[in-house]
Amino acid sequence: MAFVERVFSGVQPTGNLHLGNYLGAIVNFVKLQDTHNCIYCVVDLHAITQPVDVWGGPAELARNIREVTAAFIAAGIDPKKHIVFNQSQVAEHAELAWVFNCVARMGWLNRMTQFKEKAGKDRENASVGLYDYPVLMAADILLYRATHVPVGEDQKQHLELSRDIAQKFNNDFGDSIRKHGGNDGLFFPLPEPLITGPATRVMSLRDGTKKMSKSDASDYSRINLTDDADTIAQKIRKAKTDPEPLPTEEKGLEPRPEADNLVGIFAALSGRSRADVLREFGGGQFSSFKNALVELCVAKLSPIAGEMKRLVADPGHIDAILIDGADRARAIADETMKLTKDIVGFIHRR
Ligand code: AMP
Ligand code: TRP
Repeated sequence: MAFVERVFSGVQPTGNLHLGNYLGAIVNFVKLQDTHNCIYCVVDLHAITQPVDVWGGPAELARNIREVTAAFIAAGIDPKKHIVFNQSQVAEHAELAWVFNCVARMGWLNRMTQFKEKAGKDRENASVGLYDYPVLMAADILLYRATHVPVGEDQKQHLELSRDIAQKFNNDFGDSIRKHGGNDGLFFPLPEPLITGPATRVMSLRDGTKKMSKSDASDYSRINLTDDADTIAQKIRKAKTDPEPLPTEEKGLEPRPEADNLVGIFAALSGRSRADVLREFGGGQFSSFKNALVELCVAKLSPIAGEMKRLVADPGHIDAILIDGADRARAIADETMKLTKDIVGFIHRR
């Protein structure tokens, strides 16, 4: 029996939501609302896996949870038709993560490149939570038995791990799953990543070989969703390029990461292909292309920034949205958790 299609994705409330988050993830969240039931989560439990100075401490965390929520809504996510909530309000995320800790293997986690990047050289000093991060992510998705997960390119390996965990759980408990009437011995679906659009990996404006990231020390490396028009213009005008004119064919972008990135951003924001953008700007200088890119960025992002500002000015309203979303998420999570307990053999109140 096929699983009912459901979309789940998460964004960490760690500050500086940027154009990469928007084009790699949030734009796709918005589109999927037309075709699927969607659950969008502000993953605050994931945020605290990093050292406190990275996520900023309690006041900053609360502010960032509300800001990501505001960004979702300002970008066009409808929290009434779909579910928007923050992860820590639904305790079952941590509970299912524990069960998955006992399914996932050390060898699998040891291969995770994001842990290696984030832990850096001083691995002994990384939190256990940072190591376990992908297991909690699998729990996020599978708690709702979600089948599709829109993410940026950097989350591909974590999604593969989620599939491995789902599959091993289904195998390890196959007999019990059948006994409890589950889906031909399949309890958890193998979630599919949706990594789509021309900007699944937006790069830094200062270095086309580095990912645009919330934590880059230079604010000129990224366009934040809260940047005003002047800041956006300055950042794009200062963005690194090379001395050649833009190529006329897509192939000409291959050895030119900065050009490729800016053309990719233009394509994503305008809903056109890279080839189409090059038909218009190929052969021309960067300066005129950058002017057009500034105009496009400002036109697309300014209304979102304005709406975010309006929304965060009323924290009570945002908190009410998160509480309502969490209540609806919990109802689904509770069902999955009860069935999981039956399958594993835990005794519980029905
Ligand atoms: P995070 O900020 O790490 O919670 O990421 C939230 C979402 O944005 C995830 O789906 C990421 O894959 C996506 N994302 C983050 N940075 C980028 C980037 N530079 N380009 C494209 N997608 C990104
Ligand atoms: N790890 C994701 C990121 O950094 C955030 C995340 C947490 C997530 N749980 C998730 C994404 C579940 C998709 C599904 O971008």
